[in-house]
Amino acid sequence: MPAITPATGLYEKVKSVILPAEWSEFAPDVDAIHRLKREKNAVILAHNYQTPEIFHGVADIVGDSLALAREAMKVDADVIVLAGVHFMAETAKLLNPAKRVLIPDLRAGCSLAESITAEDVRLLRQRWPGVPVVTYVNTSAAVKAESDICCTSGNARKIVESLGVPKVIMLPDEYLAQNIAKETNVEIITWAGHCEVHERFSPADVRQLRAGHPGIVVLAHPECPPEVVAEADFAGSTAAMADYVTRQKPGRVVLMTECSMSDNIAALNPGIEFVRPCNLCPHMKRITLAKIRRALETMRHEVTIDPSVAAAARRAVERMLAVR
Ligand code: 13P
Ligand code: SF4
Repeated sequence: MPAITPATGLYEKVKSVILPAEWSEFAPDVDAIHRLKREKNAVILAHNYQTPEIFHGVADIVGDSLALAREAMKVDADVIVLAGVHFMAETAKLLNPAKRVLIPDLRAGCSLAESITAEDVRLLRQRWPGVPVVTYVNTSAAVKAESDICCTSGNARKIVESLGVPKVIMLPDEYLAQNIAKETNVEIITWAGHCEVHERFSPADVRQLRAGHPGIVVLAHPECPPEVVAEADFAGSTAAMADYVTRQKPGRVVLMTECSMSDNIAALNPGIEFVRPCNLCPHMKRITLAKIRRALETMRHEVTIDPSVAAAARRAVERMLAVR
C-alpha cells in the first residue's frame, strides 16, 4: 500500500477543484514543501489569489493583503516564504527585518506598484502642500517611505477617516480611490494607476452575467471601475468577499476579481455554484509549487529593502496596522 503523505491527506480538501491526475503531478512538490518547511523552520504566507494547490496544499497562513501584513508580524519562524507578489513580500520584510523573507519568483510584480515612483509622490506633495498621503500597500517600499500612512482595500475608508482631515491624496489606484470617495465626506485626490486584472471588468459584464445566470449574486473588488462596483451587490477586499460567501451562502455567485479566488472558496463551499469569468493576474501566477519548493531548497530569492527607505516605509505600514 502506498504511504500516506501530507499530499494524500490534503486531496480531500481540493478534490472539487483539482482533478486526481493533476494532484498526482502536484503531490511530490506538496510533500517536499512540507518536509522543507520543517527542516528550515519556515512558514508560507499565501494570498487569496494563489492557486488551490498552493492555497490549500502548502500555505500556513492565507488571506487578503491586510491579513497577510497583520499575520506577518506574528510569525514565529526563521523563514517566511511569500506566495504572492513582490510588494507583499516587501511588507512582510518591513515588519520582520530580522527574518529571511523569500519570494519564489522575483518577477512577480503588480501593475499598481509599477504605476508610481517615489519622485511622483514628492511632486504630488509639492502640488498639494500639507495634504496627507495615503498609500495603497500595492506599492514599492520607496513609495511607502514617502507616505504618511498605508491602506489596503480592506481598511481604506477607515484609514482615510482616521486622519481627521478634509482632504487626502490617495494613491496609486484611481478606482479604489473613487470607490472610497463615494463612501466618505473626505475629499480624495488620486493618481491614474489601475490593476490590470480588475480594470478589465465592465458594467456590461455584470449585466450579461445577471441575464445569463438568474438570481446570481455579484461581488466586486474595489479595484474594479466604480461603474462595476455600482452594479454589484457587494464590494470588498478578497477577504471580505470570502467572508460574504461563507456567511450569506448565496446559491449562485460571481466574484469580479482574480479567478483563482473562486476556486479557493469553492473548495470550502461545495454547495455554492460559482460562475467564473476568468481574469488571471500574470504576476500572481508566476508563483508555482515547483518554485516554492526551489525557494526553500536554495533559500532564494531573499527580499531586501534599501536601508535608506526601510524605516520610513515601516512607519507608514505600522501606522496603518495601529488603526483598528
Ligand atoms: P486584497 O487581497 O487586499 O483585497 O488585494 C487584492 C489584490 O489585488 C492584491 O494584489
Ligand atoms: Fe497587482 Fe492587480 Fe495582480 Fe493584485 S491582481 S497583484 S493589484 S495586478
